[in-house]
Amino acid sequence: MTIKKLVVATGLSFALLAGCQAGDEEQTSNEPQNQAENGGQTNNDSANGSGKADENQTKDHQEDDSQKENQESNKEQDQKDDDNEGAAAYPTMAETVEKNGENLTVTNPDSIYVVANKERNLPSDFVPKNLVEPDVSTYAPEGDPKRLMVEEAARALEKMFKSAKEDGYELKAVSGYRSYERQEAIFAYNAEQRGEEVANQVSAQAGQSEHQTGLTMDISTPSLGSSLTEEFGNTPEGKWVAEHAHEYGFVVRYLKGKEDITGYQYEPWHVRYVGKEAAADVHEAGVTLEEFFSEEK
Ligand code: DAL
Ligand code: ZN
Repeated sequence: MTIKKLVVATGLSFALLAGCQAGDEEQTSNEPQNQAENGGQTNNDSANGSGKADENQTKDHQEDDSQKENQESNKEQDQKDDDNEGAAAYPTMAETVEKNGENLTVTNPDSIYVVANKERNLPSDFVPKNLVEPDVSTYAPEGDPKRLMVEEAARALEKMFKSAKEDGYELKAVSGYRSYERQEAIFAYNAEQRGEEVANQVSAQAGQSEHQTGLTMDISTPSLGSSLTEEFGNTPEGKWVAEHAHEYGFVVRYLKGKEDITGYQYEPWHVRYVGKEAAADVHEAGVTLEEFFSEEK
């Protein structure tokens, strides 16, 4: 079901925003780009506080605390498992949107199942909680917010990059989190450089980019540098990503042949975290998130 059909089916009327995204920093050097050709720079985020206090004295307490934490985390997981039993696993798009003047705004911006697109806006003031830097090789300059992702997605990205490397493929992060304001600037830049029509095919308008959710990373590989192009899909790394990303909870969000549904050109470099379960289901079905979340599962 296309987005338009879904909205009609749910009785929600809305106006398509004139002009949608245009090149983000994604490929096309469509943003005032910091060409971070900082060769293989690895982002080492961890600021491990190595408590040099009296280790012996605190050891027992630490063990107690750690046992307690484990028990609590097991309990939480059991509770989650119980909660999921018999319940619909995924929210539908119709359940997660509300009318906001002429536009639709999503009500679950911090969910791993959020669907943001040309017709479903994120709140303009939405900033994800717990943004962290995944410990992966990146082209983004140190300290740049584009290094960030929501923690759960960041940890999954680390696992994916590590597995790719073990299989002989080198992935490099290019661009993750973007604020509403950053996306606004990127779109404006693309529209100015390439015209609004092209801009709308390659980048999201502010409030409509998955990058604002912190669940997305644009990735490349050293043979292509930091540019994000369709060519990535033909590289061994791009093929590996298409085949394996779901095993780590990611989907390739903008598929070839689905441009009329997603509203964007094919972007083999843009992966979106939805969790392992949904990613496996989406991958197996070969569909977009719009199709996947259109009906109750
Ligand atoms: N290029 C994708 C659509 C974005 O700007 O979020
Ligand atoms: Zn992207």
